[in-house]
Amino acid sequence: MMQINWQDLTPEQFLKEYWQKKPLLIKNAFPGFTDPVSADELAGFAMEEEIESRIISQQKKDHWQVDHGPFAAFDQYGEQDWTLLVQATNNWSPDTHALLGPFRFIPNWRIDDVMVSFSTPGGGVGPHLDQYDVFILQGQGKRRWQVGLPDSSLNQLLPHPDLKQVSDFAPVIDEITEPGDLLYIPPNHPHNGVAIDNSLNYSVGFQAPNNQELWSAFADKLLDLDAGSQRLDDNAREMTKSPEQLESRDIAKIKAFMREQLNDEQLFNDFIGGFLTQCHHALEILVPVTPISLEKLEDILSEEDIRFMPVSGIKSLIISTPSPCLYINGEAWQLEEKTLALATKLAQSLPLTTSEIKSFTSCLPNAQLLTSVLNKGYWFIE
Ligand code: SIN
Ligand code: CO
Repeated sequence: MMQINWQDLTPEQFLKEYWQKKPLLIKNAFPGFTDPVSADELAGFAMEEEIESRIISQQKKDHWQVDHGPFAAFDQYGEQDWTLLVQATNNWSPDTHALLGPFRFIPNWRIDDVMVSFSTPGGGVGPHLDQYDVFILQGQGKRRWQVGLPDSSLNQLLPHPDLKQVSDFAPVIDEITEPGDLLYIPPNHPHNGVAIDNSLNYSVGFQAPNNQELWSAFADKLLDLDAGSQRLDDNAREMTKSPEQLESRDIAKIKAFMREQLNDEQLFNDFIGGFLTQCHHALEILVPVTPISLEKLEDILSEEDIRFMPVSGIKSLIISTPSPCLYINGEAWQLEEKTLALATKLAQSLPLTTSEIKSFTSCLPNAQLLTSVLNKGYWFIE
C-alpha cells in the first residue's frame, strides 16, 4: 500500500502542528507516484450522467465560464485555460479510491471523497476558499499553487453564478508542484492552483458536518423512528404573577427536554452512524438479481480465486457503544461477539479472499452478515 513519505514529520506531529491550523507542502510525499486514472478516463467519467463534473474555463482574463456535465465532447475548450473537475472519482475508480489508504491516520468518518481535476496550461478554478480540509496530490504535470492564511478582509467574488472566488491574497506557500507532491490546505485558507502543463490533481476531501445538517437529519431520524413524540412533562408547575413572561427556568426545562434526545446514547449513536456513512454522491451499487442464500454462499466459496470487494467509495464504520453496530451506507447491523471480527474487516473496506471468508463463515451469524451485505449490493463478488 502507498504511504506518505513524511520526511522530518510524523502523522502525530502533522496533526498537532498543521491539521486545521497551517497549510503544508510535502515535496515528493509519494516518490515515483503513478496516476491511478488517465486524463482520458477522467474525460470518460465526465460523459456519464450520474457522475458530477464541471469544466471551468477562462476565455479572456477574468472572464470565467462554468459548464456542467455530462459532456459529449471537449474539443471546443481548446488547449489551454480550462480545467475539468470530476467529483467523487473514487466511487468509479477503485485505483483512485486506493489513494485514501495513506490518510487512514484520520478516521473513516472524517474522510469524504477524492475529486480529480485535469487542467490544461493556465487552467484552474481561480482563488477561492473551501470549508473543508483538503489534501491536494499532484499527479502528472506541474502546477503553481499559492496558499494564504484566513483573512477577513478578502472580498468574495462571483465571476460566474456557479463560481465563488476571493480577491488576491498574500500567499504563504507559492510553489510549483510536481508528481507526488502533496499539499495540505486547512478550511478557509485561500488557495489558487494554476496549471503549468497538462496536469492531474487529486483532492482528498474531508467531511465535517455543520449544525444545520446534523439537527435536520436528527429530526428526520426521530420522525423515521416515530421517536420523541411524547410531550413535555409540566407537573411541577407553580403559579405565576407574570403570565406574559417565558421564564428562564421554563426555557431551561424545554432545553433539557430536547437534550434528553441527544443524551439517549442508543438513539444518538444509531443516528450518527447512519448519518456519517451516507454517501454524498452516486455509488456503483448493483443489487444481485436473485438474493444470495446461505447455500449459494457456500457454493461460491467452494470455487477458487474469488474475492469479496466493497463497492468503491462506500462508507463504513463501527460504533462500539452502547452495543456494537456496523454501519454501511447509512444502514445498521447489530453485532455480537462472534461477528465483531468480520464486521471490523468489512468496515475497513479491504478486499476479502476466499480463505479469509471461509474462516468466518463456518459461523452462522457471520455467514448471515456477509450474505446480507452482499444482497444489499454494498459488497460484491469479483
Ligand atoms: C483542483 O483544481 O484540482 C482543486 C480545486 C480546489 O482547489 O479546490
Ligand atoms: Co479548493
